[in-house]
Amino acid sequence: MATNLLLLPGDGIGPEVMAQVERIIAWFNDNGADFATETDLVGGAAYESHGQSISDETMEKAIAADAVIFGAVGGAQWENIGYEVRPEAGLLRLRKDMGLFANLRPAVCFDQLADASSLKRELVEGLDILIVRELTGGVYFGEPRGITDLGNGQQRGVNTQVYDTYEIERVVRVAFELAKVRDSRVMSVEKHNVMESGLLWKDVATKVHAEEYADMTLEHMLADNCAMQLVRTPKQFDVIVTDNLFGDILSDIAAMLTGSLGMLPSASLGAEKDGKLPALYEPVHGSAPDIAGKGLANPIATILSFGMALKYSFKMTDEAKMLEEAIQNVLESGLRTGDIARGDEAICSTSEMGDAILAEMNKLK
Ligand code: IPM
Ligand code: MG
Repeated sequence: MATNLLLLPGDGIGPEVMAQVERIIAWFNDNGADFATETDLVGGAAYESHGQSISDETMEKAIAADAVIFGAVGGAQWENIGYEVRPEAGLLRLRKDMGLFANLRPAVCFDQLADASSLKRELVEGLDILIVRELTGGVYFGEPRGITDLGNGQQRGVNTQVYDTYEIERVVRVAFELAKVRDSRVMSVEKHNVMESGLLWKDVATKVHAEEYADMTLEHMLADNCAMQLVRTPKQFDVIVTDNLFGDILSDIAAMLTGSLGMLPSASLGAEKDGKLPALYEPVHGSAPDIAGKGLANPIATILSFGMALKYSFKMTDEAKMLEEAIQNVLESGLRTGDIARGDEAICSTSEMGDAILAEMNKLK
């Protein structure tokens, strides 16, 4: 039976980078895999078509699919509409309704790109860290939220940072499970010095460690210090586990260490049930409206996200490795999209990058 992928290209550069992933999927199908794809609308594209950033019908397809591959959402034209219908709401609903509580954001510095980082080569060379971000809780979803009128010419904006024990336990477990096949070190990050939710986070992480993973290492760090340490000595980290908002911020910092946001994939995973793992794969970069439609976007983050799908959803580890190797070889050859080029280096288009990766796959197969 075919493996069903739902492709949600979204807005901005989303469709351009997804087009390259579709070529990679076709390549795997030509070489013995059996992926069936369906493409649907999300974000601003969905809003323009039916006034919602994701329809109920698309949500049903996402839940039924074996994996969702997501592009990007958002753009200036949708800045002034309500939060419920904004492009980002489509992504947040996918995360919430699919139960994708664990967001894996690896920050790996490809040797060939160490000079594209804003940090010195020796700080980032060989960098391989993994941020596990809680994705369905915290201030992103906490109630109460909203803007109320105080009646005295003032308004009040409210969001709520809230975590229950089980939400912390399950994401901390994911971090330890992933650390097992890495360097067995987990850094739990919160702000218990000012936030009760951070204090609970720290206590629960400590308990999960003591009861289930005592043979591994758990350390704690305050989120502001972690931001600083990430640009000071990033290689000190193995796995970082943190809440939704801190994870959002820290993963953008980590991403930049590797040279470009255009290189970073992510996986959002839920709890496996009846042999089915809810999963969505997306590049960490956004919709990049400034370069959208120009064929300049780097498709590697989205292609590597599909690689994470091969690894986590389909247990096609060898194929995932091969895809990574193909990308490394292409980088080795000197081919660069604008985001990873330095100075006056020549730049290639989105589809030329796709061509080169496919050509490399043909050599490696
Ligand atoms: C991310 C993005 C999203 C987030 C936006 C698009 C809602 O920044 O995935 O990091 O804040 O989670
Ligand atoms: Mg973000």
